[in-house]
Amino acid sequence: MSIWSPISWKTKPITQDVRYEDPKEVEDVVAALGRLPPLVTSWEVERLRELLAEAQQGRRFLLQGGDCAESLSDCRSDIITNRQKIILQMSLVLIHGGHRPVIRVGRIAGQYAKPRSKPTEVRGGVELPSYFGDLVNRPEFTPEARRADPKLLLACYHHAAMTLNFVRSLSDGGFADVHHPEYWDLSFFRQAAVPGELREEYEQTTRKLSEALRFMEALGERTVADLSRVDFYTSHEGLNLHYESAQTRQVPWREGWYDLTTHLPWIGERTRALDGAHVEFFRGIRNPVGVKLGPSVSPEDAVRLAEALNPDNEPGKLVLITRMGAQKVADALPPVVEAMRRAGRLVLWVCDPMHGNTVSTSSGIKTRNFQEVLREVEQSFDVHEKLGSYLGGVHFELTGEDVTECVGGAVGITEQDLERNYATLCDPRLNYRQALEMSFHIARRMSRLPRAPRP
Ligand code: PEP
Ligand code: CO
Repeated sequence: MSIWSPISWKTKPITQDVRYEDPKEVEDVVAALGRLPPLVTSWEVERLRELLAEAQQGRRFLLQGGDCAESLSDCRSDIITNRQKIILQMSLVLIHGGHRPVIRVGRIAGQYAKPRSKPTEVRGGVELPSYFGDLVNRPEFTPEARRADPKLLLACYHHAAMTLNFVRSLSDGGFADVHHPEYWDLSFFRQAAVPGELREEYEQTTRKLSEALRFMEALGERTVADLSRVDFYTSHEGLNLHYESAQTRQVPWREGWYDLTTHLPWIGERTRALDGAHVEFFRGIRNPVGVKLGPSVSPEDAVRLAEALNPDNEPGKLVLITRMGAQKVADALPPVVEAMRRAGRLVLWVCDPMHGNTVSTSSGIKTRNFQEVLREVEQSFDVHEKLGSYLGGVHFELTGEDVTECVGGAVGITEQDLERNYATLCDPRLNYRQALEMSFHIARRMSRLPRAPRP
């Protein structure tokens, strides 16, 4: 392999590239970004790698979730708080069902860049560049808004820093009430769509969870403080390599390079070409790295990707996020899992049940069906169980708001409801109640897993 540097990606073919008008302006912004302090630290990144290594051994479970496209205007205390809350609540349900600690990772504080299937968008006969996320341009359909603006790289850095500052404060004790399920909105239990025995089971889970948390609290004050101080990590798609490489640096007393825009960057389904710029960039950093794998990936390519991104086969380094779709997962996933095992590669398997299950309604609205999303998760558990591997995490697009973007779930969102509060700038997200309900289903499936191996 050729010599790696934070800018060696520039010598490789790049997909989803951004066409900036003025390269000098990009250079100046990248230099400014490089001088600013990092958003995360190398010791947090190393800690996450250790946790992911334990998840690979079946001892932890990863919950990754957040917006499809984070936006500058969503950098608001209510939206951030609600998103943190739902992730925390889901994690408690999963810990209870799965008997394992949960690693919480948000798609947050940097999820500003979006790959698009078409470079341009046509509305009423007018053609403009597509919206590529707030890191690149703005969603309004005007020529000014859709121009790729390098200054947005800095604006997003600043918003990521503000978001992260608030997330860190919240994690540091701001969530005492979340530890009491009696305060959660569990109204979906009472929906007619939830059969009687399931409702009873859910109510029992909530009761047991409350008791367990109260017991923990009763153990002593230190435990209460520890309980409300939760670890939380960030992730985003590492799509814009100007942004990623600008914040990639060496730190004293450690070897290698760290991408300090986030703890866990991932490579998207559209940019994971083996000889491409994204694989080149991400093979050189110490962070754990995720890669999305869709149904078209060949087992051989998946293994080559694992070799390229984790040449020394280090534990905790590589997260494979499969997003096959409920229709395809049963056929497409097993050969990839088997190939990886034959090649002796250490990976953490995570299921993203969102991106293979996007459909359009007859009126052209993008949505996802709760039942199909759940079906992909359940089938992924089945595949891994059958093959003796471990599904070590799930990856969701979700929000803590009461949006109407995905259909189904006990709250029964229909296609007609979609227009009521369809707020996403890109893909449809589970809303608060759908996300919480999903966690109860997953916890139920996880309760059948073998107990976690002892360290
Ligand atoms: C995403 O996670 O928002 C995304 C674009 O996913 P994928 O690369 O799997 O299509
Ligand atoms: Co998405």
